Amino acid sequence: MKQNIETETAAGRPVAPPPSLSTLPEWAHFEQAARAARIDPSRLCVINAAGINLDTSGQHASEALQEAAADLLAARNFNAAREQLLSGGVVNPTENRAAWHTALRAPATVPEVAAERQRLIEFIHTADSERRWRNIVHIGIGGSDWGVRLAVAAFGYAGTWRRVHFVANIDGHAIQGGLSGFDPHDTLVVMASKSFTTAETLENGRRALEWLQAAGVADPYKQMIAITARPEAAREWGIPDAHIFKIWDWVGGRFSLWSAVSLTTALAVSADVIAGMQAGAAAMDKHFAEAPIAENAPVQMALSGIVNRSVLGYGSLNIAPYDFRLANLVPYIQQLEMESLGKSVDIAGDRVSVPTGPAVWGMPGTDAQHTFFQWLHQGSDGAPVDFIVCAQADHGWPHHHRILMAHCLAQRQALLRGKSYDEALQECLADGMPLERAQWLARHRLHGGGRPSNLIILQRLSPYTLGALLALYEHKVFVQGLVWGINPFDQWGVEYGKVLAKGLTRMLESCDPVDPGYDASTAYWVERLRGPCTGT
Ligand code: F6P
Repeated sequence: MKQNIETETAAGRPVAPPPSLSTLPEWAHFEQAARAARIDPSRLCVINAAGINLDTSGQHASEALQEAAADLLAARNFNAAREQLLSGGVVNPTENRAAWHTALRAPATVPEVAAERQRLIEFIHTADSERRWRNIVHIGIGGSDWGVRLAVAAFGYAGTWRRVHFVANIDGHAIQGGLSGFDPHDTLVVMASKSFTTAETLENGRRALEWLQAAGVADPYKQMIAITARPEAAREWGIPDAHIFKIWDWVGGRFSLWSAVSLTTALAVSADVIAGMQAGAAAMDKHFAEAPIAENAPVQMALSGIVNRSVLGYGSLNIAPYDFRLANLVPYIQQLEMESLGKSVDIAGDRVSVPTGPAVWGMPGTDAQHTFFQWLHQGSDGAPVDFIVCAQADHGWPHHHRILMAHCLAQRQALLRGKSYDEALQECLADGMPLERAQWLARHRLHGGGRPSNLIILQRLSPYTLGALLALYEHKVFVQGLVWGINPFDQWGVEYGKVLAKGLTRMLESCDPVDPGYDASTAYWVERLRGPCTGT
């Protein structure tokens, strides 16, 4: 890792922060080219990357835009920045850290990562061969949760070898549900927390420990695992060294899926899932590192995302996985994109002149069609959509799969081509409607069209393709952060909320006078919610 490279001035500011976007003539050219570009229905553009087909035909495109994009990336020193990321340089200046998740999945990685990987494999192997633990309670939140949930649901959708409950929320109902139905004597509790300070995880972990103790488990700590970058904190908590697996400081929380946090996936489904996902992600890393800009899938996704958000003004991005097993992909990408790009100040500390990271939302199709697709088709805002589908299904009903794919293509087609007033009118008249009614109804039945989308096709859902898919989004986010000039690896907004919650927890649990700095409503509700003060 290049941790020793000077990244800060003596005053603690980053050395030469990138210039703000609005000062770059390359941005002005890009913006201009993006405004002139159109979605061309006769254009077919499919990029193959690490076994994934990315079809960007549904995006605004032109040769001038492609050229302007290359210039913009050059102005942002894209090659050097990518090299920094992939070689473990400091790419997170506000926390003075690398974001070297790619090292966790590199086939030939650094010795400490390889050694920890080996420890994990041995642990899984022993647990499996001794058929230890029938149940797992996985406790973790955000990046210590979503990736594992995603992988377990994607590959364990038909049932898992061990039963798994996920507990993330501090809401006591979550841990109550997480522990219920499991035999404490046959349960492994996995606490995943990079920081080992996250209130939700520590409190839920305590409840799980108490549950083991109350059941008379002889050595409850032997049924607990900690995965963390602060082994000393886990040790202090009582967890034995053999049950502590390491994450490193240079792994961002939302990338921890690639670390030992995936232990639960391996125990629930198979260790092959971790290996397969890592191989797929590593293949995407290689593609990202080597493919020319015009054929680089994450780069092209990033650029059309910037056009959609910063030039065309779309405020959100819809994720539509046409695969029921990928329901958790939506919150996973939500965290990845929104925690990374939900910022409006650039690295120099100046406000970014254009709108940055969009809100990300979605639901698997076809459920989504019966929930919010009406808004996408005819609402006043609309949103670009990432359609994700597997060419091949793993069930035995090909007819179902063809219908599913037809729906996916149909939605995309409707958003893309729309339906003109004349077409709608002809339709109504063909239905035998009187002219006046047909003219009125046609106005309700027309579709604006021209709504941008990506179509992402996985040959089939395998650990390899899922790993590649996640890395595709990760690198896309990195490129967008680079162009906007923001740091995609910190999350100061979330940190602020955590600090306030600590103070409020103290207030709610005490009889102290309410902090005079609170606004009237918060002060009122603190008084009301803490109930009668008993003085204890
Ligand atoms: O939401 C903020 C955050 O720091 C995420 O980035 C992280 O995934 C989550 O909290 C959990 O953090 P930890 O793994 O340290 O418990």
